[in-house]
Amino acid sequence: MPVFWHENTKQFHLLNPHLSYIIQVLENGHLGQLYVGKRLNDREDFGQLQERASRSFSAYPENLDPYFSLEQLRQEYPCYGSGDMRYPAVEVEGENGSTLTDFVYLSHKIFDGKPCLEGLPATYTEQQGEATTLQILLRDPLTGLELTLNYTIFETLPVLARSAYFHNGGSQRLVLQNAMSLSVDLPDKEYEMLTLYGAWAKERMVQITPLQMGAQEVYSLRGGSSHHMNPFLALKRPDANETQGEVLGFSLVYSGNFLAQAQVDGFDVVRVMLGIHPEHFSWELLPGAHFQTPEAVMVYSDTGLGGMSRAFHTLYRTRLARGYWRDRPRPVLINNWEATYFHFNEEKILEIAKGAKELGIELFVLDDGWFGKRDDDTTSLGDWYPDLSKLPGGIVSLAKKIEDLGMKFGLWFEPEMVSKDSRLYREHPDWALSIPGRGMSPSRHQHVLDFSRPEVVDYIGDLMEKVLSQAPVSYVKWDMNRSMTEVYSRALPAHRQGEVFHRYILGVYALYQRLTDRFPQILFESCSGGGGRFDPGLLYYAPQCWTSDNTDGVERLKIQYGTSMVYPVSSMGAHVSAVPNHQVHRMTPLSTRANVAFFGAFGYELDLNLLSQQERQQVKEQVAFMKEYRQLLQFGDFYRLKNPFTGNEAGWMAVSADRRQAVVGYYRVLRHSNMPFTRMKLQGLDPSLCYRVTVEGESSLHYGDELMYAGLSTSDRAASKRDGRESGDFYSFLAVVKAE
Ligand code: DGJ
Repeated sequence: MPVFWHENTKQFHLLNPHLSYIIQVLENGHLGQLYVGKRLNDREDFGQLQERASRSFSAYPENLDPYFSLEQLRQEYPCYGSGDMRYPAVEVEGENGSTLTDFVYLSHKIFDGKPCLEGLPATYTEQQGEATTLQILLRDPLTGLELTLNYTIFETLPVLARSAYFHNGGSQRLVLQNAMSLSVDLPDKEYEMLTLYGAWAKERMVQITPLQMGAQEVYSLRGGSSHHMNPFLALKRPDANETQGEVLGFSLVYSGNFLAQAQVDGFDVVRVMLGIHPEHFSWELLPGAHFQTPEAVMVYSDTGLGGMSRAFHTLYRTRLARGYWRDRPRPVLINNWEATYFHFNEEKILEIAKGAKELGIELFVLDDGWFGKRDDDTTSLGDWYPDLSKLPGGIVSLAKKIEDLGMKFGLWFEPEMVSKDSRLYREHPDWALSIPGRGMSPSRHQHVLDFSRPEVVDYIGDLMEKVLSQAPVSYVKWDMNRSMTEVYSRALPAHRQGEVFHRYILGVYALYQRLTDRFPQILFESCSGGGGRFDPGLLYYAPQCWTSDNTDGVERLKIQYGTSMVYPVSSMGAHVSAVPNHQVHRMTPLSTRANVAFFGAFGYELDLNLLSQQERQQVKEQVAFMKEYRQLLQFGDFYRLKNPFTGNEAGWMAVSADRRQAVVGYYRVLRHSNMPFTRMKLQGLDPSLCYRVTVEGESSLHYGDELMYAGLSTSDRAASKRDGRESGDFYSFLAVVKAE
């Protein structure tokens, strides 16, 4: 059991081969934090790791000495108002209007495994002994509010998962105003903070800034986790890089408004907090009621950012994603969105599908425009009935025809939305989020359905179930194309409007759960105008997500590199699209478009019939290559080799678990004249094995040590050997590495 309880010193020590996390019950009954970091040998007393001081202006409890001040102590789940002056993890309003709580240790439980979180996505275990859970029960004596802090430490991964559960065991009406999922106080501020920022079509750009005095944060108040900031932050030591050094990664398993914050106080203590954003959040807790926060995951790595990412990848790929598709290589797909947008009919769709089938593509996905009267983006959301003028036999007949071609069929929905010009809106105008007496703010001409209301979720669920049960649908793309405004539910009283954002996300999760239960073999891909909800919460239901609406291969280098900080390759939808690219108008070579997309859930998003014979042959070879290597590409260990944020090149590779096979991708953005010789150091290979390395049909033998320490040459091919467009700007190559 990697959780020890030392009764005499009242200390908990959670440890595994990688990390230690030590908690102490303090004199006032609160939980103090003694240590977070690399594994320590267990012992009875780590009390010396908690420094104390009597400092000017510090308040302390009346019955304790001045050296005991919450302002000076590192804590597990801090509250504001009785000494600690930093942003708190919890605020609960009682009947007297005060938000102060005084959570005092009552008892604890330690057990094998990990309980589910009611209505929420969370990491899980499958076998006995994979993880151990510590639950610490605390109670606020005045209100009777009980708080259970959940900690699960995984046996072999450098991972600690946390969440908090509240139960109103008293007789007062309480209102939760802030309830973080995780709070960690670190004793020094020698860190840089890495976050993922962006906007539509440029998601998850990597930003690294030194930690500074005060609070620094990423957040979303958009209703979804957003394109703009991802629910993740990492603190890295300044000397940590891809391959070495200490990094702490924090990720929130949630898809709605969030806050991920690092505050540095005047004594250089860093408090990291992750949870639902307290802004626009409140939750009524009547006597007997309870509230569960989302889960936050902490990863400790002493092998740099690469080690942190691989821990997240393994955890999220194998113990967060679930179901039939979790461990299965993903079908190579073709999506008609960039090929036709809204303008298609059955004949056109079948023509595209047929052309794709000839090249080996396995799944056809019909995107937006198949329902209601949807000839542009102004109408019909909510009317999930096929448009018979485009598809005379409906979805049933089209799906069967696609299956007859020998392909699987997939379908697009945007379940959470409604157009004003729709049957649904005309019948239920009150089902759209809006504030009585105020105007509405459309975005992409559409409005958000009130998914905090179970009857709305049920109605949409019924419509979707009908389509999915009548037609042979093997894949669903679940889109969501706007941020939320006028967030107000007509089903809740005035004093509970603070619950709407969170109840909305619970409604989204409930519908995902219903559909994945009912159709366990359908592959779900989440999407929000590309990667606007690429978060761990949705990975629990949909094992892959459309990474970005930006499909240009060069742009995708940064997007996929940044996304890989947290999310596994198998989760990143990545398609080859047409040139000039529809988002940035770039003419990226077909080879490079595919070489980037291979490191993802691979597909095409163009009319392949419009390509030349030579290009179609190239696509055929790409599809065959992907089928041969997709197990390795999607499920291998992923190493980032060259950083597109800091230079003109990018590189990454996937390595099999036994280290006998790898596929390497090398990408050079611009070609310059008279370029220097360049090499790229590989990672993750066995230094003593001899590998055959094949690049563009030529192969050579090298030991793993040479490939990792001297590197693979990237210059001879790129700069001197070849000419023509493929070795000019936007050049790339793949190397297949196999042990002899
Ligand atoms: C946004 C998605 O990201 C696109 O891939 C496409 O499905 C459109 N929506 C359709 O409206």
